[in-house]
Amino acid sequence: MIKITTPATSANMGPGFDCMGMAFKLYNTLRIETQESGLLIENWSDQTIPTYSNNLIYATIKDFFNLIGKKLPGLHMIQDDHIPMTRGLGSSAACIVSGLLAANELSGERLSREQLLKIAAETEGHPDNAAPALFGGITVGAMHHGQLYYSRLNVPKLNELHFAVIIPNFYLSTEKARKILPTHYTRADAVYNISRAALLTAALTGGDFELLRAAFGDRIHQPYRRELIPGFKEIFDAAYASGALGVFLSGAGPTIIAVTTSNTIRIPVPDDWILSFLKPDQNGARLEICSS
Ligand code: HSE
Repeated sequence: MIKITTPATSANMGPGFDCMGMAFKLYNTLRIETQESGLLIENWSDQTIPTYSNNLIYATIKDFFNLIGKKLPGLHMIQDDHIPMTRGLGSSAACIVSGLLAANELSGERLSREQLLKIAAETEGHPDNAAPALFGGITVGAMHHGQLYYSRLNVPKLNELHFAVIIPNFYLSTEKARKILPTHYTRADAVYNISRAALLTAALTGGDFELLRAAFGDRIHQPYRRELIPGFKEIFDAAYASGALGVFLSGAGPTIIAVTTSNTIRIPVPDDWILSFLKPDQNGARLEICSS
């Protein structure tokens, strides 16, 4: 039996649209073994997950075997997924990364994590969830002439930060949240985001956390997506009023994340939102071979 534990991730982090992301200690755990034939998926999660061939982990494994030209074996999978789905916490990327790691191991193909990242980023269309899911910590990634370049930031004081993850009881599909974005931006908006993405990288690597409020500024996606998220302004205002260092929309939303210096800061949130404090995951997806 193979056990794969993949972290939740938050993409964009304000200005880093489609390129920056970080991993959290909240996990999707997959146990998987081959069987003679067919597919059996058990769900140990307290959320509904597809248990047939439309399961994203299974679909990823099937695509991987097609890609390498090997026959897909029968599979027994047990999924224990604590990452809420369609909330902007990288639940799909976690399934894709788990599926790729499982398929790589079961097929004996032994692709490197860098190679798997390229496949995951191509599947998702951007690397900002897949990179931290595979490598942990905070990552930046860019496609350049068909090649994926990424780096895991060295953030020496990352463990001093606490992340108030504020999740609503409603979904927002990434597709809908991407459709609402403009196709063109002004030079002023481009400069606004470039400067803040650079400032954010400097603030994190240099430990200058007082820069975070300005550094999380964004004009590429948040101003448009907030229209789809009732409570957005209230929560941003409440988080800053409570002393947050910075606040950003997690991925395509609707989850909002406030960065704080303590996990006892009280941020009042509307009734249909839940706040939990999460710590960063520094290791990324873990694969273990278990006896059962
Ligand atoms: N960067 C992506 C977006 C993350 O904001 O649309 C969600 O998949």
